[in-house]
Amino acid sequence: MEKGSELTYRGHEEAQPTADGYTPKPPKPWLSVVRLIRYLLREQRLIFVLVGIAIATVFFALLPSSSHGSYRHDSDVPILDSISYFGRDSYRQSNKPYEQHRMLVHSIGKVPLGLKRKGLRIVVTGGAGFVGSHLVDRLIARGDSVIVVDNFFTGRKENVMHHFSNPRFELIRHDVVEPLLLEVDQIYHLACPASPVHYKFNPVKTIKTNVVGTLNMLGLAKRVGARFLLTSTSEVYGDPLQHPQVETYWGNVNPIGVRSCYDEGKRTAETLTMDYHRGAGVEVRIARIFNTYGPRMCIDDGRVVSNFVAQALRKEPLTVYGDGKQTRSFQYVSDLVEGLMRLMEGEHVGPFNLGNPGEFTMLELAQVVQETIDPNAKIEFRANTEDDPHKRKPDITKAKDQLGWEPKVSLRKGLPLMVSDFRQRIFGDHKEGSTTSTVSS
Ligand SMILES: NC(=O)c1ccc[n+]([C@@H]2O[C@H](COP(=O)([O-])OP(=O)(O)OC[C@H]3O[C@@H](n4cnc5c(N)ncnc54)[C@H](O)[C@@H]3O)[C@@H](O)[C@H]2O)c1
Repeated sequence: MEKGSELTYRGHEEAQPTADGYTPKPPKPWLSVVRLIRYLLREQRLIFVLVGIAIATVFFALLPSSSHGSYRHDSDVPILDSISYFGRDSYRQSNKPYEQHRMLVHSIGKVPLGLKRKGLRIVVTGGAGFVGSHLVDRLIARGDSVIVVDNFFTGRKENVMHHFSNPRFELIRHDVVEPLLLEVDQIYHLACPASPVHYKFNPVKTIKTNVVGTLNMLGLAKRVGARFLLTSTSEVYGDPLQHPQVETYWGNVNPIGVRSCYDEGKRTAETLTMDYHRGAGVEVRIARIFNTYGPRMCIDDGRVVSNFVAQALRKEPLTVYGDGKQTRSFQYVSDLVEGLMRLMEGEHVGPFNLGNPGEFTMLELAQVVQETIDPNAKIEFRANTEDDPHKRKPDITKAKDQLGWEPKVSLRKGLPLMVSDFRQRIFGDHKEGSTTSTVSS
């Protein structure tokens, strides 16, 4: 009590009341420091932000450069989630061709000598199919990480099983009609049955795959900022009234025929792709693929090359529909894969015709098959199928000019490679999946 009154007394001594009764508070020495901090916080916030940026810059500059290529201790897979964002985002924003991007990331990534630079993460829908599996081979060989998404309707695990032990390869059984979320840099969208036998098997499912499946993959591309490539088809030209077909030709397609689920499905897929590009700024690429052949094609899928090869090997007559004078162009699969990769890495949206302009009638093709497999193979004529186009030949001027691409493998060079793969599969001489598309020069 006595102490309290003493304190009260001293206070009065130091701060005398003014005439109007106001008593000033005693000065507190630490108040000025608090005021300064408050001032700095309130008025000089920018300084703090700048100091923060400077510290961060110094920190990242001094960080060991291996962080751009950190490797998991249990594998040689780069830890993409945490690190590669830098690479991925710079890639997405740069709009540079892939090789330029690689060099850019390489130079700024400061990957120490002896450490491999990380690749991109790429999803290939339909990657267990014929074209998809050859594309996967090339992407893996290039050093990228590949996720194959496939429902195995026409695809086979055997086509990709030689990658199963590779930590840069993943396989997901998934139907693209259902949404899927994956963190990727690029999407090659191939999932769709491609041969008449398969796409007519369940036409509603085919059009759903083309429309809903493509919507889902475009939605994914938009969400994660990935570049999207659609594998469209020469079928968008229908039974063409212009020959050869140029990309500017709008086509002559029957909207209600038995092939419409595929033809119109792909046309809608192209429309969706362009609308996502224009409306949502998604980076897209469109390839219009013409007849392609090679190892790993489905054996009995009704496509003319696989039909003839399988029939000749089984000593059955080669079935020619109609008069056999309808023409097609045949592209070897390695040429197509090269074209798809150039398109993806290039700067042009497309659409681009990717096909071999060498034109063959069905009868000429049958002769090449006879020469390659069995000179005594017979030819049997059957009634033509509905909506079968009479002529098909790509004009590839645009791809030559803008992608620097043109096919290299002739039918006579490519066919024997397909024949040895078919022979192995038909006669059980088992080495499935190990067949590549490589052509010796
Ligand atoms: N090969 C050609 O001559 C040719 C010509 C023009 C266009 N294309 C296009 O190229 C792409 C690949 O053709 P391909 O010849 O390799 O055919 P393919 O049938 O061998 O491959 C298609 C792949 O997609 C998968 N798939 C189908 N529906 C799916 C779905 N709903 N969800 C997930 N996966 C699904 C299949 O299981 C298969 O693995 C297709 O989009 C096709 O339209 C091919």
